[in-house]
Amino acid sequence: MASLADKFGRQISYLRISVIDRCNLNCFYCMPVASGCRRIMGDELNLDEIIRIVRAAAVCGISKIRLTGGEPLLRPDLVRIVKNISAIPGITDISLTTNGLLLPKLARPLAVAGLNRVNISLDSLQSEVFRRITRGGELEDAIAGLQAAYEAGLTPVKINAVLLKGINDGEVADFARLTLERDIHVRFIEFMPISGDSHNWKKHYQPIDTAIKLCAQVAPLIEADSPANGGPARYFRLKGGKGKLGFISPLSRHFCSQCNRLRVTAQGKLRACLFSQEEIDLRPLLGQEVEVIRAFSQALTAKPDPTRLDSDPLVRCQPNSFGMVSIGG
Ligand code: 5AD
Ligand code: SF4
Repeated sequence: MASLADKFGRQISYLRISVIDRCNLNCFYCMPVASGCRRIMGDELNLDEIIRIVRAAAVCGISKIRLTGGEPLLRPDLVRIVKNISAIPGITDISLTTNGLLLPKLARPLAVAGLNRVNISLDSLQSEVFRRITRGGELEDAIAGLQAAYEAGLTPVKINAVLLKGINDGEVADFARLTLERDIHVRFIEFMPISGDSHNWKKHYQPIDTAIKLCAQVAPLIEADSPANGGPARYFRLKGGKGKLGFISPLSRHFCSQCNRLRVTAQGKLRACLFSQEEIDLRPLLGQEVEVIRAFSQALTAKPDPTRLDSDPLVRCQPNSFGMVSIGG
């Protein structure tokens, strides 16, 4: 099987596919405008198109697939999508990024269909704060989802929390303590100004080192192995803890040299880099697998030089008019 490596030697094994760009929450850091997330696009890739893309990707050596959104659990055919992907030779790992709200119903069928793991976006453990960040979401629904994922064996369950100064930075220790008793991974992510909202970004951006220091006050931090090909997180354990803490710093520390991923948007545009607007439309190519394979190689040559990304975050994260929700995190 071919292996994809870009011109800087980065081995590409990981493809993120956004299967929908709608969401049932409306997180302010993700959605540029309050109503944006709920708009209906209706032109998302269908099941057959997704499968064609994954087949071609697998021929290129991609072995890990992550389904993202918007909110992927809103897709009525998600279980079928997972089932079909898991039957593709070469795909060894399927994961999902979700806000978890619909997991109480879906965790088990997804696990049976072949889903291995979930990342749950959860930025606060306090109802009021959760409501504020998500513009109206209910914390208890997300917690029920987390529990359902755990019970369905979608483990290790990973929680993604965007670090927001003045909003959830007071809860870092509470998040860290979740890893003491259970094999949960809590990952803190720097807030990127990707939705073009520079006002909120300047107000709430907090470098990840702050979170590392706050976690170290709970218990000594012991460096943990990062999962093989695990991408851009640095991992630690709290001394005596069962789970892990991850710190993801797209802004304060470039991690491009470890970037092992390609992205496909909900409308089938292949993107080499979160911070680049360049994309290849896969839809017209789907009739011919060799064309799709060629597009993957082409995308790799478009992957930016890790040493040459713009150092100003507001320039680098060029505002995308639909926010993160259309790229899939
Ligand atoms: N900065 C950092 N992470 C973001 N996400 C969405 N928008 C941003 C942003 N501006 C992440 C969320 C979620 C995933 C869908 O994308 O944390 O885990
Ligand atoms: Fe939805 Fe996730 Fe964006 Fe929040 S961060 S609005 S849950 S896609």
